[in-house]
Amino acid sequence: MPHLKVRPFDTSRLKGRVAFRALPEGEKGPELVGVGEGEELFILEIKKSPESYLIRSDKISRPLDSNRIKKALAELRDKAGLEVLHSNIELSPNRPPVAAEYDKKIEEFYDGEFPFEKVVLEVGFGSGRHLLWQAKEHPDTLFVGIEIHTPSAQQVLRQIHLQQLKNIWVLNYDARLLLEMLPSNRLEAIYVHFPVPWDKKPHRRVISDAFVEEALRVLRPGGFLELRTDSENYYRYALEVFSCPVKAEFLVEKNRDLPVVSKYEARWRRMEKNIYTLTLYAREESSAKEMRFDFGFRGAVTAERVAALPREAQVEEEFFVHFGRRYRFAEGGGGIIECSFGSFDRPEHKYLFWSEGEAAHYFPGLPVRSAANQAAHQRIGEWLHG
Ligand SMILES: C[S@@+](CC[C@H](N)C(=O)[O-])C[C@H]1O[C@@H](n2cnc3c(N)ncnc32)[C@H](O)[C@@H]1O
Repeated sequence: MPHLKVRPFDTSRLKGRVAFRALPEGEKGPELVGVGEGEELFILEIKKSPESYLIRSDKISRPLDSNRIKKALAELRDKAGLEVLHSNIELSPNRPPVAAEYDKKIEEFYDGEFPFEKVVLEVGFGSGRHLLWQAKEHPDTLFVGIEIHTPSAQQVLRQIHLQQLKNIWVLNYDARLLLEMLPSNRLEAIYVHFPVPWDKKPHRRVISDAFVEEALRVLRPGGFLELRTDSENYYRYALEVFSCPVKAEFLVEKNRDLPVVSKYEARWRRMEKNIYTLTLYAREESSAKEMRFDFGFRGAVTAERVAALPREAQVEEEFFVHFGRRYRFAEGGGGIIECSFGSFDRPEHKYLFWSEGEAAHYFPGLPVRSAANQAAHQRIGEWLHG
């Protein structure tokens, strides 16, 4: 991860495209610096120790294009004349750029519209071999790849640039949160190849009752969800999950060959492991989903209300809300609160920005449009406005 380690300095010297600075409430926690503007704004953290300050991007707003982080760090270094102890922010001129046009944000899925008639989803594409191959084979189809691991998403965006592909969208996000936002009967297929088995933490698995239910809703009749796994455990678990929805039928195949072999699959084959393919077919038309979501805050916030926000996680049956670190803007009043909320196994992580007398807002972007997020948002609104 790009970072700068510098000698301690007076952070009020930071200038340039610095949108704000925010200091942690209490002693603990880094200082936050907003860099860039508008859609491009993201947050850098300054972790302080008596000997050095470590400056790097945060986890919540980090851009996928690491060159943007490197450029922002270089600008801070140069404008404030920082004394560098260690850094890794040299731009790599020989590295192909990421295809920024196909790097999609979760907000771009809000309207449920795609510029292609046929749309296919691949969950956890890893090195992207299957995704890239499918896209080349079917230029009339849009392939939406969703991957939680940032370097994999970056790598595939570089390949999209190199191979000049025009029919892949990459989303660096948790796949368990996406399906709820998609319109019914829209996808041709969903590929989930070699998901992490999470034997010790099954609640983190991509495949779940809720995922399958949503998959059957978003697939058009005749569309399918294809799971491939080398894990006997996951295979048995998936058999059980796929058997639940009575409305669907599925097919099980052992050691079926695909024209393209992913890195993982190649490894399992060398180890002579069995590979199971489970294909679940959507047979029926699903009813349209009501998409009435509103993540705006109405009404002015006061510092008293913010101070009274619960310090402990608030857990309800369907959702939770947890406010993490709180920060005060170095200038102008108001501040930033880290918050996690929504469903327990698919939490949303955002910042809540507030200023005295103004409406609060989430950063970066709005939460995913899910029932749990909406209920959590409602509760946050009640705390903020009564
Ligand atoms: C074992 S790898 C398989 C990669 C690829 N499908 C293949 O066949 O080689 C599993 C991938 O799923 C991704 N992943 C795990 N949980 C995810 C989630 N909730 N949403 C999106 N991607 C996820 C991981 O980052 C990892 O790249």
